[in-house]
Amino acid sequence: MEPIHFEHNRAAAGAIARYYESPPLAYVHSYGCQQNVNDGEKIKGVLADAGFGLCDAPQQADLILFNTCAVREHAEQRVFGNVGALKSLKKQKPGLIIGLCGCMAQQPAVVEKIRQSYPFVDLVFGVNGIDTLPQLLAEKLAGGNKRLLQAPAERTEIVEQVPIRRDSRFRAWLPIMYGCDNFCTYCIVPYVRGRERSRRPADVLAEFRGLVAAGYKEITLLGQNVNSYGKGLEQPIDFSDLLELLCKEPGDYHLRFMTSHPKDASRKLIDTIARNERICSHIHLPVQCGSDRVLREMNRHYTVAQYLDLVEYARTAIPGVTFSSDIIVGFPGETEEDFEATLDLVRKVGYMQLFTFIYSKRTGTRAASMPDPVTHKEKARRMARLLAMQDEIACGLVAGLAGKTQRVLVEGHGRQEGTLSGRLSNNLVVEFAGPAALVGEYAPVHFTGSRGTILTGELAQ
Ligand code: 5AD
Ligand code: SF4
Repeated sequence: MEPIHFEHNRAAAGAIARYYESPPLAYVHSYGCQQNVNDGEKIKGVLADAGFGLCDAPQQADLILFNTCAVREHAEQRVFGNVGALKSLKKQKPGLIIGLCGCMAQQPAVVEKIRQSYPFVDLVFGVNGIDTLPQLLAEKLAGGNKRLLQAPAERTEIVEQVPIRRDSRFRAWLPIMYGCDNFCTYCIVPYVRGRERSRRPADVLAEFRGLVAAGYKEITLLGQNVNSYGKGLEQPIDFSDLLELLCKEPGDYHLRFMTSHPKDASRKLIDTIARNERICSHIHLPVQCGSDRVLREMNRHYTVAQYLDLVEYARTAIPGVTFSSDIIVGFPGETEEDFEATLDLVRKVGYMQLFTFIYSKRTGTRAASMPDPVTHKEKARRMARLLAMQDEIACGLVAGLAGKTQRVLVEGHGRQEGTLSGRLSNNLVVEFAGPAALVGEYAPVHFTGSRGTILTGELAQ
């Protein structure tokens, strides 16, 4: 057997190896945000550490794990659909272990639904059980048909140095904090991910150094609200200080981060971005809506005027900066007027990209008990209006970049046959002809035009 990294899983790894005739295969699928994708990479790392091979097809797997997202109902329904579809596979292959983890598994009602209606699901564990997963699997293998449906663990300590199998060899997710304390009234995250906890700067730096040394070009710092990084740590440090610390590391890389809550995004942060070439000139600054009344109902703690001030400050300080945002359409009680205020704000900021969501009621949140008289049909109409406006704005911004030349990170193949796709510092995408060997490298690209919201270009000398 390969040497094991997580000593506390050694006995479990031995039990797993004795149970299977040849090394078992695991299929892990993650839904939702980057934080969850990063958890999925750790799940794969821990499984590989305990002797599992990893596969891309559920049909080949001895273990299927769905690492789920709970932020909207639609995401949950998709998971239930995909889990349901495994029933026949389990019949053909009774030894198959099917598990569900992640944010949905943090909700007692979901665990109950799985218990009652999905008898072929063997394992349920929450977001804090990744490092001990092999022990849970060994227990399952020893227990025969017994199901292990765990109530969410109360553990809150951060486990460091979890083995990880990253999905990319040049772009990496680096969580700097976990949980959220904001309790926006629509959001389930504080309930499923628990209170805010920051990783120690030394731990973040050690992982960061490892990534740079391994050749990672793009490192994205993750947190539900990166601007409150440092609260509760012994060492006084805030998010801007952390960025400064990381940017001092020598190497060929750049940094991104998400998500910045507008209530805590400071001028100090903007100045830090402006000062450091390595930090991309793009800020994801979710506004959620453009009506002060609705922002109050959402418990967001900023006004439209304060938000616009910040955007203005950033535009002056960081040449060429772009913004993206999340918008919720149809929050309970949103009037036509409120919605028009959102359109107005979107026009004023001129976002490069919007992530738009129709409000989804989440049981247990404060907004779930607010009157919500607007029909889904009307909300869908509002959404279509917003998307049409955004498309026009983004196309205009993209077209305005034609004629420029910039260094981009080549991420893969483009949509157009024979092209590569690269990402600019401002988060836009350009497609251009070039050799596949450039994937994962930086390349200078001259922008010649655009196709909708995608730039077109050619390799520059
Ligand atoms: N309904 C719709 N969208 C939501 N989001 C969070 N909770 C909900 C909800 N209940 C959106 C927010 C957030 C993004 C990650 O998901 O816009 O910024
Ligand atoms: Fe949810 Fe608000 Fe926390 Fe974001 S900041 S995760 S929207 S509660």
